[in-house]
Amino acid sequence: MKSGDSSKHAGLSDISKKSDDVAQYYDEWANDYNETLMDWHYEAPSKIASMLRSALSLQSSILDAGCGTGLSGNALIGAGFSSIDGIDVSDRSLEVASKSGAYNTLRVMDMQRLPLDIPDDCYQGLVCVGVLTYLTDSISTLREFCRVTRPGGYVAMTQRSDLFTERSFQDVLDTLVKERLIAEVHTSEPQPYLPDNAEFGEEILVHYIGYRVV
Ligand SMILES: C[S@@+](CC[C@H](N)C(=O)[O-])C[C@H]1O[C@@H](n2cnc3c(N)ncnc32)[C@H](O)[C@@H]1O
Repeated sequence: MKSGDSSKHAGLSDISKKSDDVAQYYDEWANDYNETLMDWHYEAPSKIASMLRSALSLQSSILDAGCGTGLSGNALIGAGFSSIDGIDVSDRSLEVASKSGAYNTLRVMDMQRLPLDIPDDCYQGLVCVGVLTYLTDSISTLREFCRVTRPGGYVAMTQRSDLFTERSFQDVLDTLVKERLIAEVHTSEPQPYLPDNAEFGEEILVHYIGYRVV
């Protein structure tokens, strides 16, 4: 039997992608998000941090794009990184993240509004964990990740297995490779995402994706 309070977040797999709705949803969840995700055995932050550790030196500056309450920043700190900035559309989540002490800076930013208020080539690494669900314009989002990450830098992210197919995500990656914006793309087989959430379980899995920015 699946544990956690999946019933409280029934419909999570298909909530509105409108930024205001998403911000409100995650604002209301912020105080017990970490606890809930632990109940569901969410391992994506630590797996993404391991990917980044294999690809970059620990001195690298990292943007946690969609950092939420800080689970991804905590995992990066746990992997040995120390220069991490976070952005998210939910200011209540950022308040929780600020208590983690994992981040140098935290800013409210809507990643559906491009370009982001971040200079070109600002970071050596970028992680985007559990967030692409809400960013439906995949190619524009990934181009923007390339813009803010320096050449030679590394991007690591998750994409849900159902959305990987629905949004033709492999075609998006192939296009960026052809345009010589990214290289060395690694896409994992689908793996468990929220294994102890009844709605996700064995139905909705996750791909771990990493690439080098050219
Ligand atoms: C599933 S949580 C993941 C948070 C964190 N990365 C983690 O792994 O726990 C999704 C996060 O994406 C953020 N998000 C969704 N749409 C966004 C947008 N348009 N701009 C910025 N953040 C967004 C939400 O506010 C939420 O914090």
